[in-house]
Amino acid sequence: MKLDSLKLRNFRNYTKEKINFSPHVNFIIGPNGSGKTNIVEAIYMLAITKTYKSMKEEHLVKRDEDHFLIKGVVERGTEKQSLSLYYDMTNKLAMINDDKVPKLSDYIGNLNVILFSPEDLNLIKGQPGGRRKFINLEIGQINRAYLKLMHEYNKVLKNRNEYLKNKKTIDGLYIETLNEQLAELGGQVYKYRFKFIDDINKELESIFKSFHGKGSLVMKYEANTLITEFNDESKDILLEKLNSSINQDSLRGGTTYGPHRDDFSLFLDDENIKLSASQGQIRLATLALKCAEINLFKVATGEDPIILLDDLFSELDKVKVKNILKFIKDDSQIIITTTDLDGINQRLLKKSKIFEIENKRGNVKIKTEEMRN
Ligand SMILES: Nc1ncnc2c1ncn2[C@@H]1O[C@H](COP(=O)(O)OP(=O)(O)OP(=O)(O)O)[C@@H](O)[C@H]1O
Ligand SMILES: [Mg+2]
Repeated sequence: MKLDSLKLRNFRNYTKEKINFSPHVNFIIGPNGSGKTNIVEAIYMLAITKTYKSMKEEHLVKRDEDHFLIKGVVERGTEKQSLSLYYDMTNKLAMINDDKVPKLSDYIGNLNVILFSPEDLNLIKGQPGGRRKFINLEIGQINRAYLKLMHEYNKVLKNRNEYLKNKKTIDGLYIETLNEQLAELGGQVYKYRFKFIDDINKELESIFKSFHGKGSLVMKYEANTLITEFNDESKDILLEKLNSSINQDSLRGGTTYGPHRDDFSLFLDDENIKLSASQGQIRLATLALKCAEINLFKVATGEDPIILLDDLFSELDKVKVKNILKFIKDDSQIIITTTDLDGINQRLLKKSKIFEIENKRGNVKIKTEEMRN
């Protein structure tokens, strides 16, 4: 899969911009604050319809403007498709070939991206919510049915929470029906998530080794129902937990058990790296996890996802950069941002397309150097 071109209107510090990407390696260079991350953000937004920083859309609209438009042409095999995302302070519209797509869950998955960003380092050590978002997104990009399932699950969860919060007396039959619905959907969520973890683990070991990471790296799902695998009983175990926590939940006005509060950890030789690993080990593990995702995408969709590497040298040392670039096959499309090209392999530069951000009195433009050969 390749992103042929990207058009921006009133997105962040860009008024009107068009970039024609190379199907291989692209470098976007510019000083701090010039708008490199904004390009990566636009591509991510076009793919996922949300920013990875959980930023409100209104902050993405260029100051003093009232809408933004991101448009990209995506090539998949011999097919080309245009994707657009429009936002005007009240509506967010996703379009495929200029036709509006009513449900965002039907839109996501048409452009697959894997992002390496400085924020990734918070993934392992940060709050569980970030890790849930990660899991949901990765499974969702591969599998649209999962997005629909999560949508249904969250709807029932919201009903249950509202009912428990607002009702003075609880109708046992009604709440048990809600519990059954939630357990049914939750059981399916477990199924997808445990499969995802299994698939990731199949990739992780060899990738971690190829990064010269010592020891074995394993991802483990941490369900608050304490189930450790998905099977026929998973749903019943959740149902039992939901039924036995009705009183507690009605006091809290929330649902204690279920995948919406689960987590995962990475274990390095049986030690939870969240608790004990060094900063360097965490970086290496995070990178391995992201690279594992690239492989999962390929297996699941038959396509190479587009790799976005934001801020190449800020958090990762050069050895790791070399590792990622080695890992990413030659035929993948890569979009890399960096302040300067110092220390970047000349052979790589020769086959790359380079874009330079120029800021003339607040007017930001992207200058393209001719393809070097
Ligand atoms: N809504 C907006 N309207 C106009 N300009 C914006 C908006 N949001 C952000 N900016 C501008 O975008 C710039 C930051 O862009 P970005 O984060 O892409 O920079 P960068 O090149 O990635 O910098 P660094 O190298 O420090 O990571 C800032 O100058 C900021 O003022
Ligand atoms: Mg940046």
